[in-house]
Amino acid sequence: MTIEDLDQGARDILAANDRGGYTVPNGRVYPFQWNWDSAFVALGFDTFDRPRAWAEVETLFKAQWDDGFVPHIVFWQEDEGYFPGPQVWDTRRTPVSSGITQPPVAASMVAILWENAKAAGEADTYRPRVELLFDQLLAWHRWFRDHRDPEGRGVVVAMHPWETGRDNSPEWDAPGEPIDISNVGEYVRRDTGHLDAKMRPTKLEYDRYLALVQYGRAQNWDHAKISQGNPFKVADVGMSMMLLRANRDLLTMALDLGRTNEAAEIQHIIATAESGIEWLWNSEKQAWCSRDLISGKSSGFITSASFLSFYAGLSDPVKDTAMLTHFARIGSKVEYMLPSLDPEDPGFQMIRYWRGPVWAVVNYMVGKGLAEAGYDAEAARIRKDTLALIEKNGFYEAFSPVDGTGSGGDDFSWTAAIWLALG
Ligand code: GLC
Repeated sequence: MTIEDLDQGARDILAANDRGGYTVPNGRVYPFQWNWDSAFVALGFDTFDRPRAWAEVETLFKAQWDDGFVPHIVFWQEDEGYFPGPQVWDTRRTPVSSGITQPPVAASMVAILWENAKAAGEADTYRPRVELLFDQLLAWHRWFRDHRDPEGRGVVVAMHPWETGRDNSPEWDAPGEPIDISNVGEYVRRDTGHLDAKMRPTKLEYDRYLALVQYGRAQNWDHAKISQGNPFKVADVGMSMMLLRANRDLLTMALDLGRTNEAAEIQHIIATAESGIEWLWNSEKQAWCSRDLISGKSSGFITSASFLSFYAGLSDPVKDTAMLTHFARIGSKVEYMLPSLDPEDPGFQMIRYWRGPVWAVVNYMVGKGLAEAGYDAEAARIRKDTLALIEKNGFYEAFSPVDGTGSGGDDFSWTAAIWLALG
């Protein structure tokens, strides 16, 4: 296949998964709108259809709650093929949605859409739209500050593994142990009906996911209550880095749009995050790691999210050198960067979801961060491996870092979008 064929293939996937204003990650496995998927999908659309790119994010924000919260799934239409569906979440909102959020990458993607619109001479057309999105994004970021950082540390505390977007990463294993799963009851998963169970989270993990959904439902999805009493609270290194980056991008937009007061507020949030995030540095492992807020323990796991420090714009010569040393070590163990878990970890599994496979969206962010920080060789390796994985195997959800085998669903929207965005 030529590059032109692949470009066309990527556009065809986005078109096929387009449900009118929003895109499903994959028609069979994920038949609704997912939060961070849509942000990346917008980047893909922006390479060939600007109005459609903006609509993707605007549709997501139509599901924003009054308190600023933006759900991780919006159930725009019914589909029997997914569990847990709207009845299980029972958030009683219109549109029907889940009650947890997902990594806040939307501001970063909107900032890119806005720059591209200006560069194309379409600033006048898109200014009113970016003004509205700016307010919605800021409201969401304030929600993170108010409801996902109960100790005011400047990090993002996930209240559910699904919130991190890295569902079954081993970082959630120990913090998940105290979750009471005795009342979860019987249920039928749909994911393992579509896909090989070897690639998916285990039954124990799923029981915990559902117990946390039941907990949120019992609080009527009152996020203030959840942030106090939730049985799972993990400062996620991935979300913390992504929100810091997103706030920097939002600040750029605020200054550009003349929003002086908001800019000062965002600067304050950034300063809190820049100092607070130090809490996630694990000096024993010499790496950025998630940390359990309840036990206070660092996970000690080096995952692909650990490398998002560059994307977050953190720059510290000692820590950066340590992370680049990990990068070189991991890079010598796998054919394709960047595995979602350190391949030297005993729990590494090359096709099990977030315990090994490479994800194009994480590669996109890590690669961008490395390039911006001037680590050209590392950035080039990420780019080359991402493109090679897709070229050789197709637009899979994720890929084995060992041999490139596609993992999870095929014809995946965000993989297609990243292919297009990498140009
Ligand atoms: C899985 C992924 C999550 C993604 C969703 C839809 O749950 O772990 O990150 O948003 O699928 O693609």
